[in-house]
Order: sequence, then C-alpha cells, then structure tokens
Amino acid sequence: MTVTIVGSQLGDEGKGGIVDLYGDAADVVVRYQGGDNAGHTVVEGDEEYKLSLVPSGAVRGKVGVLGNGCVVNPRTLFDELDALRDRGLDPDVRVARRAHVILPYHRVLDGIEEEVKSETDDEVGTTGRGIGPTYEDKAGRRGVRVGDLLDPEVLRDRLEYVVPQKRAIVEDVYGLDVADLDDPDALDVDALYEEFREFGRRLADEGMTVNAGEFLASAIDDGQNVILEGAQGTIIDIDHGNYPFVTSSNPTAGGACTGTGLSPGVVGDGEVVGIVKAYLTRVGSGPMPTELGGVEGDTPGYEEQGEGENEELATYIREEGDEYGTVTGRPRRVGWLDMPMLRHAARASGFTGLAVNHVDTLAGLDELQVGHTYELDGETLETMPATTEQWADCEVNLRTFDGWPEQDWAAVASEGYDALHENARAYLDYLSDELDTPIYAVGVGPGRSQTIVRERPF
Ligand code: IMP
Ligand code: MG
Repeated sequence: MTVTIVGSQLGDEGKGGIVDLYGDAADVVVRYQGGDNAGHTVVEGDEEYKLSLVPSGAVRGKVGVLGNGCVVNPRTLFDELDALRDRGLDPDVRVARRAHVILPYHRVLDGIEEEVKSETDDEVGTTGRGIGPTYEDKAGRRGVRVGDLLDPEVLRDRLEYVVPQKRAIVEDVYGLDVADLDDPDALDVDALYEEFREFGRRLADEGMTVNAGEFLASAIDDGQNVILEGAQGTIIDIDHGNYPFVTSSNPTAGGACTGTGLSPGVVGDGEVVGIVKAYLTRVGSGPMPTELGGVEGDTPGYEEQGEGENEELATYIREEGDEYGTVTGRPRRVGWLDMPMLRHAARASGFTGLAVNHVDTLAGLDELQVGHTYELDGETLETMPATTEQWADCEVNLRTFDGWPEQDWAAVASEGYDALHENARAYLDYLSDELDTPIYAVGVGPGRSQTIVRERPF
C-alpha cells in the first residue's frame, strides 16, 4: 500500500520527521515533486542530517526514489550522496528517467528574474535553485530529462537547441553580458555537455535510473510499502496555492500520481496524511492573514503586509521553534494557525489523517489564538478565496485558546495522547473536528522518539 505525506500549509511543517517515523514500516520512499528547494532535517540518535534532494528515508536504509515529477540537480544529488557515504551510510537512491534536470542556466535565470521583479517589490523570494525555470522548460518542451543524460547524442542535441535561446534571453531580454555572470560556463554548451555527460555516466554506472511508475507499481505488486513524500506545501502549490507566490510543482496529493506514475486509484487506496505545524510559518513573499510579526531587515513581502502586530511573540516562537530555512538559512515569518487554509488543504488532498508538529514549541504561552474564519467584503469565509489579492484582503476572526505548560515531552511521547495537558488536547481536538480528520501523530520535539504516535498507517 501507499502512504502519501502532504504539507498542508506553506512548507516546513516537519514532513521529514513524519516520513522518517512511518518509514520504519516502508520499503520505498519516493519524492513526487520539487527539487533541491526542499529541506528536510532528519535526526537519528545524536546525528542530524540536512537533506534537500535525497528522500529522507534514505537515511534509514530504505530505497529512495526521485519520481518523474521532480526536478533533479545532479550536482546536489551527488554531493548529498557523497556526504551521506562519508558519514557511513549506504543510500540506495533511484532517479526517474522522466524527471527533468536542473541545469546551471536555470539557476542563473531564477536569480535574474527575481532581481528584475525586486525592482518593483514583486519578487517571489524563491530559493534560487532554478526550480521555476526548469519546470518552465518542461512545460515548454525544451527540457533535458534524466534519461537524456545517458545518451550523449541526445544530450548534445538538446543543449545545442536550448542554450542559445537562454543566452539570447540573458543578453537580449535582460541586457546582461554572459561573460560578466558569476558562472559564465552556465551558458557554454561544451562545458555543460562535459559535466552533465559525466553525471550520466555515473547514473548509469551505479544503475540509478528507473522507469519510476513501473518500478513502483511492481514494488506494490510485491506487497511492499511505499511512502510518497511531498515537498513544500499546499499553499505554495502551483495550482492550489497563492499564485504567483508559489513553487512550480504540485505538493498536493494529485501530484503524487502524476509525479510517480502510480494511478489515482493506487494512491487513493492508501492513506494521505496531512502534516500541520501547530502555528504557521512562511519564507518568501505573499500574504499571511494570521501573521504575528515579520522578520527584521529586507524580507520580501513583509513590507506589504505591514508590521505584524506582535513582533515580540513572533520572535519568541521563531527562536523556540528554530524557524530558520533548512536550505537557505532564512528566518521565517511567523503567524497563528490558519483554519481556512487548512480546510482548503484538507479538501484538495483528501487527508485521511493528520500529524501535528511543534506542539511543544507553543508550550508556556498564557493563551494562543487561531484564525478560525475570514471576513471578506462583509461575508464570513470558511476557506481561502481563489485569488491572492482577495486573500490579502481577508480579515481574520480569531479564536482564543488557553495555553499549556512545558511538559516532560519524552514521557508524554511514550505515555501517549492522554498524557498531553488538557489544553493542548483541546487545541488538537478542535483542529481534528474542524477538518473532520483524525490525528495520527503529534510532534512534541524534533527527535523521532519525541512523537506521540496514535496511528501507524502501514
Ligand atoms: P522556489 O520553489 O525556489 O521556486 O520558491 C518559490 C516559493 O516557494 C518561495 O516563496 C519559496 O520560499 C517557497 N519554497 C520553496 N521551497 C520551500 C520549502 O521547502 N519550504 C518552504 N517554502 C519553500
Ligand atoms: Mg523545509
């Protein structure tokens, strides 16, 4: 069977930890979208692993697959694999031949477009990893796929077609000189061909490429358990998120089908677990109706949002929750839990269970609030409006909850849900009732043992 793990907010909900927890009973862990814009922190004993591309299950000796819906930067892939090997692990990672390759010019173009947009304060605040430009080329039918790296002639042809176009965009559209770029080789066909043909050799030598759909379907036929691991979150989904402040793929559960080659029937037969952070964080631009306080300095989007009204509380939660980007180190914007956002996420992905993280982070507050509904043009909304401009205009109707104290979290995790303070349970029960979805797990600390497990989907 399959278990699909989906971020229900803006990314950084702690998906990696839950994948890791349920991964015990899994044989294969597959990523279905995104690339090295993701950041997963996996804690194992005293060791902490920060991964941006390799599926987190690979830390635990599972087969890790990058599905066809992913965009793969081979530099990152091999850097991470080498780093894991240096630490004594032997990760088994397979890459879909249909996945698209992030080339150095994609990063260059990501940077240039953000720079241009920033002149009018319109930048998305991307991770700068070339994600958007790679998906653009995929949709534009000019991308390079992983399978192409294994065929030098095809690789050469693709590069000879596409690189002059990219060069023209840099020079003629943006008026820049390629020679002045930090990495002028990013637009040099010969240099790209040499480097990426070598990656192709390595992928072939290590037998790493697969026809993902076939590979996964036959694993399932053999009775294996497969985790489909989403990256990012619902509100930065290209279709269901707050466009244009989104990533360029589908973190929602539909992406688990198109991004792996497994059918909706197979994915829908399994479980879809929505990962929720007990409050809300955001990196990058865009509205955030429950925002408490932004980040000092030049944070995209923050100015438009105005100052959050409770800077001090935002700072407190950011520090307690260690809310800094895994990939970029950026401090995250902080807000209260947003229920209209979660109702939208639960509908779009059809959650069968929830895992709620960072319940310990909020401990010690006298009281806390939740965005229960929105007001927009005199109407009360239970869910998010479809345009980002309308979303930005929503006023939040807050609900207040009594806070809960610090507890011995290790003890709570081993004793179970009833050992949680009653105020914490009231908060979680509200969440579960509103989304009409049972709570499968509650995170009360970053470690694997610091999770209350109520349901094991495998
Ligand atoms: P991109 O995915 O690098 O193109 O970035 C697009 C938007 O998605 C930006 O607002 C990023 O901050 C956000 N984003 C991308 N990956 C993550 C993630 O793993 N966690 C949180 N936000 C992300
Ligand atoms: Mg992350």
